Amino acid sequence: MITDELEHLTSAGVERVRAAATLEDLRATEHELLGKKSALASFNQRLGGLDVEERKEAGRRVNEARATLQQAIDDRRATLAEAERRHRLEADRLDLTEVLPVPGRGHLHLTTQTRDELEDVFIGMGYQVAEGPEAEDDWHNFEALNMPPAHPARSMFDTLYLDVGEPESVLLRTHTSPVQIRVMQSQTPPIYVVAPGRVYRYDTPDPRHLAAFHQIEGLVVDKGITFGDLAGTIEAFTNAYFGPGTHSRLRPSYFPFTEPSAEFEVTCIFCGGDGCRVCSQTGWIELGGCGMVHPNVLRAGGIDPEEWTGFAFGFGIDRLAQMRHQVDDMRDFLVNDIRFLSQF
Ligand code: PHE
Repeated sequence: MITDELEHLTSAGVERVRAAATLEDLRATEHELLGKKSALASFNQRLGGLDVEERKEAGRRVNEARATLQQAIDDRRATLAEAERRHRLEADRLDLTEVLPVPGRGHLHLTTQTRDELEDVFIGMGYQVAEGPEAEDDWHNFEALNMPPAHPARSMFDTLYLDVGEPESVLLRTHTSPVQIRVMQSQTPPIYVVAPGRVYRYDTPDPRHLAAFHQIEGLVVDKGITFGDLAGTIEAFTNAYFGPGTHSRLRPSYFPFTEPSAEFEVTCIFCGGDGCRVCSQTGWIELGGCGMVHPNVLRAGGIDPEEWTGFAFGFGIDRLAQMRHQVDDMRDFLVNDIRFLSQF
């Protein structure tokens, strides 16, 4: 009898649906029970052989069976979906009290450590810290520093220009000296500042040069400042940074923005001043440039050179760190090799 068969099919089908363990299982079961090739579908063909009344009744039973199975499937699907959702949430849960082993903490880069240390030395001498933009205009980087267009000293600085505005009007600053101008324009003397920061040169990197490196600039403008103040300041800072065994000396040099100008050198820390390969047997290593601020530069900064005088200096932070830690190749600063970085 069709009715008995249908009843059996339905109860067995509901059992199967309840036994489905996953949504995946359930989908397969649904296909088997209600799909085109299912036993239920074959009943529809068998209906054709029945007379009208029987066919009506049997058709109703087939629809009922289909509805019952579908309902069982929908219920089971809701249950399984909820269980899977809960399982997923459980798996994603973060235990904020869990302590994981940390593979060693990082620290500041050697250059940053050196910059911080230098800032501290100068803050200790009463200086303030100033900053300026790395993308600079021609006027601040050159012209205001007594280097008008086509001035030969511009060739001391291999300049990287930016494709902004008029050709060669905006550049990556080649030194921190433009910050001198910005400070003079925004502050009134007395001025005691240092300006650390990144600078750029169109240069091929080698063991002692990088195309992007760091400088720290010093600027003092006050009444009655002399070359002796400059020399004393440089001696004080070399002692503070390298220790009391290290001394400094000045040698005549040329910069357009200082007059007179000098290069300053410190005792070679590789040989302690006896002379070695690193210092070419001189016992001294060049560190940076300095001098008395040129009157034209004071004027560009809006300061009256008849009333005020000052000195300025600038040197490489990376170079300083390289010397103190005896780093063979400055390019190691940029490679981010943990074996190098973790030594400092
Ligand atoms: N700006 C110069 C350079 O980069 C260094 C310097 C700074 C010289 C201040 C004199 C005064 O070479």
